Amino acid sequence: MATQKKSPPVRGLEGVVAGDTEISYVDGDNGELYYRGYHLDELAGKVSYEELVYLLWYGKLPNKKELEAFASFLTNNMKLPPEIVEIIQLAPPRTNLMTLLRTCQSALGMFDPDGGKISEEANNRKSVRILAQNAAIVAAIHRLEVGEKVLSPSAKMGFAENFLYMFFGRKPNKLDVQVFDCLLVLHADHGLAASSFAARVTVSTLAGMHSAITTALATLKGRLHGGANTRVMQMLEEIDSPTSVKKYISTMLSDGKKVMGFGHRMYKVEDPRSRHLRKYSQKLVSRPGVANLYEISQRIEKQVMQEKGIFPNIDFYSATVQHALGIPKEYFTCIFAVARTAGWIAHIREQFADNRLIRPTSRYIGGYGNKFVPIDKRE
Ligand code: ACO
Repeated sequence: MATQKKSPPVRGLEGVVAGDTEISYVDGDNGELYYRGYHLDELAGKVSYEELVYLLWYGKLPNKKELEAFASFLTNNMKLPPEIVEIIQLAPPRTNLMTLLRTCQSALGMFDPDGGKISEEANNRKSVRILAQNAAIVAAIHRLEVGEKVLSPSAKMGFAENFLYMFFGRKPNKLDVQVFDCLLVLHADHGLAASSFAARVTVSTLAGMHSAITTALATLKGRLHGGANTRVMQMLEEIDSPTSVKKYISTMLSDGKKVMGFGHRMYKVEDPRSRHLRKYSQKLVSRPGVANLYEISQRIEKQVMQEKGIFPNIDFYSATVQHALGIPKEYFTCIFAVARTAGWIAHIREQFADNRLIRPTSRYIGGYGNKFVPIDKRE
């Protein structure tokens, strides 16, 4: 078989600029993140998630009146068609929760009053519904898992508070709402992450928003992307004690294994989001089990930096923070998805606004000139 001369492999689209965006900018060399021109530190802990979503979608921070209208529109839509609750109930035990969330989101497309429509007006309505319902699905999965009934949102609560209320079935305290709100803000968008790119590819074919969000959820699920946070928690639990860190991490690294929650395609220095989450996990250190996890995390961070020169990414301290809020580890990636839905929708809207089919090319490294051999003559 004639083959082409081998040249260095082209893998993972590293460094490839695949489009223009005004939504967010990851400055990987300096460890900075900007949402619509605002530095992350300018917004984190100061804006609510709803304010940030408005900023990502409409390009400006809302005034009081705009925010009130937007927030109540979101809250009103945190309800699920009964068929989606039935789908959750039909899921076999031990179904991966991202698989279930993805399946429900895909099914939602069939029940959406604007299903099949991609006009700007329909997409405006669907944006709010998808964001609100993604959160409602995750909360409903948890309620049903613990044998309780699915709750409706309260008109008196904002998005973060409503989510925690609908997830746990009790009104959350102020600190939990504040931390969770900020966690959502920190996860809301991140340049052309694999899942956002996947969503843009889907809508570039003029498939609808539910299809694109389904694609994005499928892409986020993997452990090299959003699935890492659950595995960070598994690792912290396995290590169990700060004195076991050294041996555990040395063995992992000498076996050539990746330490979950470390490294990033974009950041060559510290991930700025991880700075905020480290601060929150320190703030929650008095919660049951958190002091131990925090101590273990600090030791892992020090060792991985010393031995590999790589830094924690968003998924590392998000595990401790979510654990401190009482969220079971199986839900961590779903929570990431709830937050990132804002960014996915911003990308979908931007793609629709100036669409051209995304269809890159590949370098062919196969052979030429093969001759057909009838089946009875093949070896
Ligand atoms: N643990 C140990 N070594 C690592 C890690 C890690 N977590 N991450 C990167 N490295 C090492 C690699 O072994 C490689 O070393 P080598 O050059 O000696 O072979 C080098 O750093 C480059 O790593 P790549 O995997 O080629 O870098 P890439 O840009 O493709 O990967 C990724 C980025 C996938 C995030 C990687 O760092 C990783 O697998 N991390 C663990 C999973 C994780 O935390 N994912 C969440 C990312 S953040 C997010 O998506 C929200």
